[in-house]
Amino acid sequence: MNAFSHVPVLMEEAVSYLHPVADGDYLDGTFGGGGYARRILEAAACKVYAIDRDPAAVARGAAMAEGFAGRLRIFEGRISEILVILDAAGVRALDGAVFDLGVSSYQIDDPARGFSFRHDGPLDMRMGKSEKTAADLVNFLGESELADMFFQLGEEKASRRVAAAIVARRGLKKFETTSDLAGVIRSVVRPDKSGIDPATRTFQALRLAVNDELLEIEAALAQAASLLVKGGRLVVVSFHSLEDRIVKQFFAKAAGRTPSVSRHAPVLGGVGEVAKFKLLTAKPVIPGMAESQRNPRARSAKLRAMERVLA
Ligand SMILES: C[S@@+](CC[C@H](N)C(=O)[O-])C[C@H]1O[C@@H](n2cnc3c(N)ncnc32)[C@H](O)[C@@H]1O
Repeated sequence: MNAFSHVPVLMEEAVSYLHPVADGDYLDGTFGGGGYARRILEAAACKVYAIDRDPAAVARGAAMAEGFAGRLRIFEGRISEILVILDAAGVRALDGAVFDLGVSSYQIDDPARGFSFRHDGPLDMRMGKSEKTAADLVNFLGESELADMFFQLGEEKASRRVAAAIVARRGLKKFETTSDLAGVIRSVVRPDKSGIDPATRTFQALRLAVNDELLEIEAALAQAASLLVKGGRLVVVSFHSLEDRIVKQFFAKAAGRTPSVSRHAPVLGGVGEVAKFKLLTAKPVIPGMAESQRNPRARSAKLRAMERVLA
């Protein structure tokens, strides 16, 4: 029995944009606690192919899959491998795909996974099995690589100061725990007016780097979009600006909205190429006040959706 649980964010909105229909094949690329997958399966007599890189999420899903009599299959793997995973399962086209990005509460609230500066635990942050840990990065990367990572993936303005403090400290003793690292960050970054813990941005950068999250998202969007049939929908919920920027740019390009240098220059590369997708959300959908109050994870969420209009 697991003491943690996950309250899905923007779930009704995501499933409504996905618009599941009977006999359709859908991908849930981020199975997590299975909240989205269950809602899709309840909405229509369809099939859901779910992926999660976390073996614990896949194991938790086994009992749920039994309850849906062959309509739910869950694969352990990364969303950068969608084409390989689905091809091996005999799935060559999708009626829709949904991604609810980032970490689940099962992961972030479990001190043993090392994601959070709010609990003491090993400095790990791996969503799956095989990647490097956060401790590997802070103990062995060069100072300028650390600074660049904190700046680019954490948008930490004091990135150089944080990297220097880490390198000075690890010369005396290597980092092993989340609270050890958070303490060193807090000793050199002052809290600002936002009230956000000074360790937040550095921890975000480490998590994204440990799991190659931004590259994963780019690959996942391209692969999922390539499998959609005409009328098929792609729905993505993101939780911070770096994720949302990738989704926004990918959607804009797919829908032919890329700003061109000249208004005579072609969009989408080739001359006369026609956009294959249309945006369903001109602006991102965000949670209502009630959901944000109920579930603090929802506060930064943004949903974007698009539909394939040409095969
Ligand atoms: C926010 S949770 C999803 C919650 C889910 N929608 C629900 O209703 O319970 C994100 C999940 O996606 C998984 N994940 C994140 N990035 C992934 C990737 N690149 N490949 C596969 N799974 C990933 C995480 O392990 C986590 O379990």
